[in-house]
Amino acid sequence: MQTTTTILALRSCIRQWRQAGQSIAFVPTMGNLHAGHIQLLTTAKQKADKVVVSLFVNPAQFGPEEDFANYPRTEKQDQAELQEHGADLLFLPTVAEIYPQAPQTGISVKDLSTLLCGASRPGHFDGVALVVLKLLNMIQPDLLLLGEKDFQQLTIIRRLIADLNIPVEIHSVATVREADGLAMSSRNTYLSAAERLLAPMLYQALCAVRDEILAGNKNFPALTAAQSQLLQQAGFTLDYFTVCRRTDLLPANQDDQQLVILIAAKLGTTRLIDNISLQTSA
Ligand code: PAJ
Repeated sequence: MQTTTTILALRSCIRQWRQAGQSIAFVPTMGNLHAGHIQLLTTAKQKADKVVVSLFVNPAQFGPEEDFANYPRTEKQDQAELQEHGADLLFLPTVAEIYPQAPQTGISVKDLSTLLCGASRPGHFDGVALVVLKLLNMIQPDLLLLGEKDFQQLTIIRRLIADLNIPVEIHSVATVREADGLAMSSRNTYLSAAERLLAPMLYQALCAVRDEILAGNKNFPALTAAQSQLLQQAGFTLDYFTVCRRTDLLPANQDDQQLVILIAAKLGTTRLIDNISLQTSA
């Protein structure tokens, strides 16, 4: 595996692969890699000749009160894992390499970016969209791998790519979970031992709502309200818990069939998100 820190070296490596007729998949990450990230890499390797992984903690997607400075940085360990799992190129730029000057250009996927997580993290998805678009322009991959764990992010990037005719195909990867159901996340390392024991309740609540819907209960607000109460009693502070349409993330009504149940909640100071997709029959 090669590691580059500059856009110049990145482009030169990619040019050589292109000249040899090789296809390229790209996995963007912020590092502190876990089995979810590795699943993206493994899937990428099955679908393209070469895989580029970026590791960049993007300041533009963190709010002033958020954890940019404290975000877990484990570069050496990440590098070893990527090597072990067969990445071809690691792009590990500095902030100055990606943002040599404060950008005057903003990217905003309007409505989708203000819902759900966007409501409590203003500007977050604009920062994500900007860095993903910049990275896509630097790498120009055939395939972009994204996790379903961040379902709103996935939906926003799909829309960005469609709206701007970016010539890349998206492949989404199912959420990788711990044995007790907790969705893997770099932020799980913030949880205390006691919080870690409670954390799988989020997934259990999602499953409970899914099972009720599949059993024919279509009173979505009542279903999520009942589970929210249990979570609050256990010590979670709910941000949202809602059943939405998969396409536009607006609240689902009883006739919608392609659904996603989304939850965001805090345990102590740690914000956790998770979701489950499901399809109902009419
Ligand atoms: P990060 O949180 O590091 O996630 C990188 C990729 O891994 C994302 O596509 C995310 O959805 C996926 N991922 C995270 N946890 C996962 C899990 N448990 N199972 C499957 N996939 C999982 O998301 C970001 O970084 C950033 O916003 C980024 C897109 C890199 C832009 O800065």
